[in-house]
Amino acid sequence: MRNKKIREKKLPKDGFFKKIEELKIALTFDDVRLKSGHSKTMPDEVNLESKFSRNIGLKIPVVSAAMDTVTEHEMGIGMALLGGLGVIHKNMSPREQARKVARVKYYLNGLIDKPICVRKNQTIAEILKMKKEKEFSFNTFPVVDDNGRLEGVLSKNDFDFCRCGSARAGEVMSKAVITAPKGTNLKEAYEIMLKNKKKTLPLVDKENRLAGMYVFKDVKRITMKNPAGYNLDKKGQLMAAAAIGADDFERIEMLVEKKVNVVVIDTAHADTKSVIRTLKEIKKKNYKVDVVVGNVSEPESTERLIKAGADGIKVGQGPGSICTTRVVAGIGSPQVSAIYNCSKVAEKYGVPVCADGGLKYSGDIPIAIGAGAHCVMMGGMLSGTKEAPGDVIFRKGRQWKLYRGMGSIGAMEEHKGSRERYRQKSSGKKALVAEGVEGLKPYKGKLSQVMFQYINGLKRGMGYVGAANIDELRRKADFVRISGAGKTESHPHDILITREPPNYPIGD
Ligand code: XMP
Repeated sequence: MRNKKIREKKLPKDGFFKKIEELKIALTFDDVRLKSGHSKTMPDEVNLESKFSRNIGLKIPVVSAAMDTVTEHEMGIGMALLGGLGVIHKNMSPREQARKVARVKYYLNGLIDKPICVRKNQTIAEILKMKKEKEFSFNTFPVVDDNGRLEGVLSKNDFDFCRCGSARAGEVMSKAVITAPKGTNLKEAYEIMLKNKKKTLPLVDKENRLAGMYVFKDVKRITMKNPAGYNLDKKGQLMAAAAIGADDFERIEMLVEKKVNVVVIDTAHADTKSVIRTLKEIKKKNYKVDVVVGNVSEPESTERLIKAGADGIKVGQGPGSICTTRVVAGIGSPQVSAIYNCSKVAEKYGVPVCADGGLKYSGDIPIAIGAGAHCVMMGGMLSGTKEAPGDVIFRKGRQWKLYRGMGSIGAMEEHKGSRERYRQKSSGKKALVAEGVEGLKPYKGKLSQVMFQYINGLKRGMGYVGAANIDELRRKADFVRISGAGKTESHPHDILITREPPNYPIGD
């Protein structure tokens, strides 16, 4: 067995959870608060680095959920730029999902090393047809001869101002192209493009053969920003994650080809024969990806999956804001106890745990991490942002976005991925058993603004506990059980709130 157990350490919270277990009770976020402690740490000085899995780091301990109303490439890019990670959902074909992973990976790619090229004798109509079929989102195509020598460039203006689809690329393309030698770096490219007011810069070798291309929009975006807070892989590309199902081998092949960093075997119940078989098969292939597996809520399940090769464990069965699993199937442990119990086992093997679902306020992040998680996964708290998939809807004088459970009737009727997650692959569309609901969330605006509040809430929590980093929060945290009266006291009371604070939503 490749996992080595490390020595178990006694932690302050162990006594609290032992007593709770003796009473045969399990607790969740609203049942507990963290004890404050002596603090030498100011909230702004804390270090938020953590891990999603054995080899996948995070600069902030937040991951967005693999849900079709939460994470596609926009959320994946947004989360990685903020230092976190987005898990692209699987309610789409493997090819489409791989394409979305590629969009995250190439977001910071200044140099396009193999641009898509066209030939002089191709017509504009043919090129537009190919662009549509292949779903290319870009409009710049170098024109090369049979030996790969650059002859011109076709750009958006050439397409826009072309009167006739039967015109040949050679007639329409710009021939006065500014080029730079192969090996030109990003900074040099930026200067050349600025000086010449050019939106593309093809690179050529000594024989004028095309050797790459820079696009000004990308180069500017990368040059102007400070990448210190980005979550990057070793090649300097944004980290990307994607969900797969049990026996989803074609999907993982395609994702690996697009350089995904971590896949999540994403099921409602991971402690099953098919998930364990899939995990073992994937690990045998030695792909250069980590494999996170979920969801579970029991320590025995956690241990079984780690022994089968999991690089990370996702905890949470039914705590989510759109979940009905607990009431439909009658299973699941309240989330804080589940996090504690599963983390305790995972810790022995050095495998990180992600606490998935049930978070309502920023204060739930330090609670989840204090209970033992290395990071949290959010669905509801990130839904309704600009980066979440879906259109803004106007209703009752307010802006909304759709948020739905992956086990909702809508998601399962529309997608095989959802039916698989809830083990209803072979059920007809009329015979589905929902484990989630669908509804609306107020439109929240930009992800960066929303995350600013969440991250600063976490930092404040760490300041109160006296934890300078995530590991200290996991080790130092201790809890108190609160009563119903304690919960009422925790929230604003005896006041008519006249201004909704950005971190305390009222009347969702
Ligand atoms: P939050 O609380 O962040 O939860 O909205 C997001 C997590 O909920 C899980 N999920 C579901 N669980 N039925 C369930 O029982 C569903 O339809 C469903 N959809 C998502 C998932 O783990 C997600 O990350």
